[in-house]
Amino acid sequence: MQIGPYTLKNKLIVAPMAGVTDRPFRQLCKRMGAGMAVSEMVSSNSLLWGSEKTRRRASHEGEVAPISVQIAGADPQMMADAARYNADQGAQIIDINMGCPAKKICNVMAGSALLKNEMLVGKILDAITHAVDIPVTLKIRTGWDTQHKNAVTVARIAENAGIQALAIHGRTRACAYRGDAEYDTIAEVKASTKIPVIANGDITTPEKAKQVIEYTHADAVMIGRAAQGRPWIFREIDYYFRTGKSLPPPEVTEIHHVLIDHLHALYNFYGEYSGVRIARKHISWYTKGLIGSATFRHTMNQLQTTEEQLAATNTFFYQLANYGQRLTYTEDEVVIAI
Ligand SMILES: Cc1cc2nc3c(=O)[nH]c(=O)nc-3n(C[C@H](O)[C@H](O)[C@H](O)COP(=O)(O)O)c2cc1C
Repeated sequence: MQIGPYTLKNKLIVAPMAGVTDRPFRQLCKRMGAGMAVSEMVSSNSLLWGSEKTRRRASHEGEVAPISVQIAGADPQMMADAARYNADQGAQIIDINMGCPAKKICNVMAGSALLKNEMLVGKILDAITHAVDIPVTLKIRTGWDTQHKNAVTVARIAENAGIQALAIHGRTRACAYRGDAEYDTIAEVKASTKIPVIANGDITTPEKAKQVIEYTHADAVMIGRAAQGRPWIFREIDYYFRTGKSLPPPEVTEIHHVLIDHLHALYNFYGEYSGVRIARKHISWYTKGLIGSATFRHTMNQLQTTEEQLAATNTFFYQLANYGQRLTYTEDEVVIAI
């Protein structure tokens, strides 16, 4: 998979997820086998660039290349400025968000709402590709709603603007997260464009990743929710792609160690107050389905300090009867010990 001058080590990309794909999570996923991880989106509103949140989002210290930063907005000039700002802060790839259905984004006609206005899409893409000399990528949905799937047209606009990779989530903006992602439109786009295509949506296992690549002929897959609390999914898919065989699921012991390292990284990055709060959702994801985890999560969510949170997490794992055993994932992604 090639994005401009960057050759990714494999076809596996971590999807941008606001509130999730912060620097600690991106670094962890890359260590666990992802070829690239797109940052959480940075607003194109320059008034926000001074905020602690944006400064934190724009920091890439210690990150493995290529560093891809997502920007969102609807004004071509502001988006061009945002691209320049992030390139100056160390971004090596600028990714444009036209795929997020969040109200906060769509109400200002940004994110996937932009897909309705193809002329504006062209203006934004042109403004950004002219503003920076690093590769620019685009993330879209299949269209505005099921009657207006214009991904093929948007891909043509993107190709004309010099976009270097196109990620497509196989749902329309109107679908939000309902129903199953479809891959026919992604296959159509792949057949109609020379830009590398990244297939996204509902990829939860190595087998599904392979099926999606075979069906769409996409150059890579992008994985979001399935990596929450399960960053080793990249190692599993990478191994399956290379060997055709499945890796055994992780041992509970390894999950414990990965989680503890992740917690330390979050505390270092955010400090104690925010670190403890942000860690709660990750702890919940890592422990989902493990015996006694519901009670543990309830107690853990009341804890206020890093010391208490670490101690509770350690105690929970040490007390698991199946400590040292492996896990298996059921269809609905509940984890059970075997
Ligand atoms: C919590 C969360 C936050 C997200 N934030 C963004 C975002 O900032 N930018 C974006 O383009 N997509 C965002 N998405 C969409 C994902 O990148 C991805 O397209 C979607 O989740 C489908 O992939 P999946 O089925 O592998 O999760 C977000 C998704 C989730 C679940």
